[in-house]
Amino acid sequence: MCGIVGYVGFRSAADFLMEGLHRLEYRGYDSAGIAVQQGDRIVVRRQVGQVQELSDLLTRKPVSGSVGIGHTRWATHGETTETNCHPHVGGDGHVVVVHNGVIENHDTLRDWLQQLGYVFHSQTDTEVVAHLIAHHLDEQQRLNGDSDLPAVCLNAVRAALQQIHGTYGLGILFRDCPDMILAARCGSPLVIGVGDDEYFLASDSGPLVGYTKEVVYLSDNELAVLQKDRLQIEHRTTGNVAPAIQTLEQVASDIERGDFEHYMLKEIYEQPHTIENALRGRLDEDEATAVIGGLNLTAQQLRQIDRVVLTACGTSWHAGLVGEYLLEEFARLPTEVEYASELRYRNPPISDRTLVFAITQSGETADTLAAMRECRRKGHPTLAICNVVGSTIAREADGGIYLHAGPEIGVASTKAFTSQVTVLTLLALYLGRMRHLSHPAGKRIIRQLQEMPETIEKTLRCHEQVQEIADRYWQFDNYLYLGRLYNFPVALEGALKLKEISYIHAEGYPAAEMKHGPIALVDEKTPSVFVIPRGGIHPKVVSNMEEVKARRGPVIAIACQDDAEVARIADDVICVPDVEEYLQPLVCAIPLQLLAYHVALLRGCNVDRPRNLAKSVTVE
Ligand code: M6R
Repeated sequence: MCGIVGYVGFRSAADFLMEGLHRLEYRGYDSAGIAVQQGDRIVVRRQVGQVQELSDLLTRKPVSGSVGIGHTRWATHGETTETNCHPHVGGDGHVVVVHNGVIENHDTLRDWLQQLGYVFHSQTDTEVVAHLIAHHLDEQQRLNGDSDLPAVCLNAVRAALQQIHGTYGLGILFRDCPDMILAARCGSPLVIGVGDDEYFLASDSGPLVGYTKEVVYLSDNELAVLQKDRLQIEHRTTGNVAPAIQTLEQVASDIERGDFEHYMLKEIYEQPHTIENALRGRLDEDEATAVIGGLNLTAQQLRQIDRVVLTACGTSWHAGLVGEYLLEEFARLPTEVEYASELRYRNPPISDRTLVFAITQSGETADTLAAMRECRRKGHPTLAICNVVGSTIAREADGGIYLHAGPEIGVASTKAFTSQVTVLTLLALYLGRMRHLSHPAGKRIIRQLQEMPETIEKTLRCHEQVQEIADRYWQFDNYLYLGRLYNFPVALEGALKLKEISYIHAEGYPAAEMKHGPIALVDEKTPSVFVIPRGGIHPKVVSNMEEVKARRGPVIAIACQDDAEVARIADDVICVPDVEEYLQPLVCAIPLQLLAYHVALLRGCNVDRPRNLAKSVTVE
């Protein structure tokens, strides 16, 4: 959460910072601010609200200069007031800081700094960092004078970081060292873009696209000095580090909205293509298996695995549930799906023969990262199913599988979910073919997967129908989402989509479990969305639907074309193609994404930037 940017070079810093903040806005949008070195002072502009409001402020009150930092905030400490906006100023204005993360010992440090005479204007933990650096700067100047100012500033930051406990990605400006940015990372991502006579800084690679293709991902406990013709990186314990330059593959169209009104809609429509990307080069028709190159485990090691743990949060956790069903069905491997936020503090028995996968779109989710680290610390090979190349989880995992879905910018995850499910299907096929799954069965799965991009294309034709249904249902305030087997996780995911972007209360349940409590909620004002494509227990779900109708609950059904039985009972039916049961999550998720999208629009909600949320949850 929170996005930070920085620039040092020859361009207008404000222009780069503002474009970067627009691109990072999905990480937080409570307020935004920039600080630019202008002559002999640092000019700060801050504004509560979305980045556009800061742009408007800058039109009225421009800043000029070619060194600066910026921030878009997802509030952790302190309300969304102007005084709590970043950047924060330390001392008498000679240090300015932007920060992503949480300083856990901020209270103690604040008390101490107040005793030393520092005056606080905000409730944020970041202002503590700004004053702390200012304090050490004074100390350093007193001891060493001003002869080598960059070195003095660097020492001040080193000393301040020694006192801080918590997570941070920091961008720091010094009034008296106007051609330099210092950047430090511990737990919150930072990437440096390398240009000709310029360097860029950002929380992820999005702001760098179109400016440079050469990037350096900072690691934890690294501190970087950025000047227009110099990049120096040091590690807290090991000293200077040679910058490892990597190539950025993204192109501008990946992060643009194109003709779509919202990123979410664009990303829903990308799914035929993103599923195709997840499959590309990963199907071996001759051997009737999947080709999964990045696990860094031998076939022999993989055959010895007798249990799988999948850990994730939110939508990725729902994809994990589908993965559990797939791995148990195809590979007969007992699988557990753990909330990362629980796993990180639990101590479940995990044997040597257990394979742990962290599933994450962003690769930066704090809980998922912590759960993964905890498992690695205990010596388990821990792999990642991840979308963002170069993200912390992707880099720290022992191996893994990329989604290749391209940047997902809408806060509500859509294409990442279907790509995760696709990759988990490949994984189940691969591990299955090492075990009990026959060649013909593997062949059949491959054929079905190959058809998937086209099937998703066909599924998207339900859009108009979904829109009409949204028109009839958007005013209801409570929803149930019900499904069974592979469609139970889909029901959970459908409910999450509706909740997060339209602020409607929605609960996902296994359809039969409803009788053990949630059925009490059913009345004419509580629609139930049944995910009921054809399959083995279709008649049972039909009975569950009857139970809801008997209590006058409105029913929307996601069902196969020509399902007369469902059509007879349900008030409204959204038709999806008929596919094998294990592929139903891929097709059934699509109408639920569209339903949430249209209901949210009709309720006047900000679809891409729902309240209180941020795309990457980088705090605990
Ligand atoms: O980046 P991750 O996949 O690790 O993110 C996990 C969740 O924060 C994320 O899926 C969240 O639930 C989405 N906003 C749901 O749409």
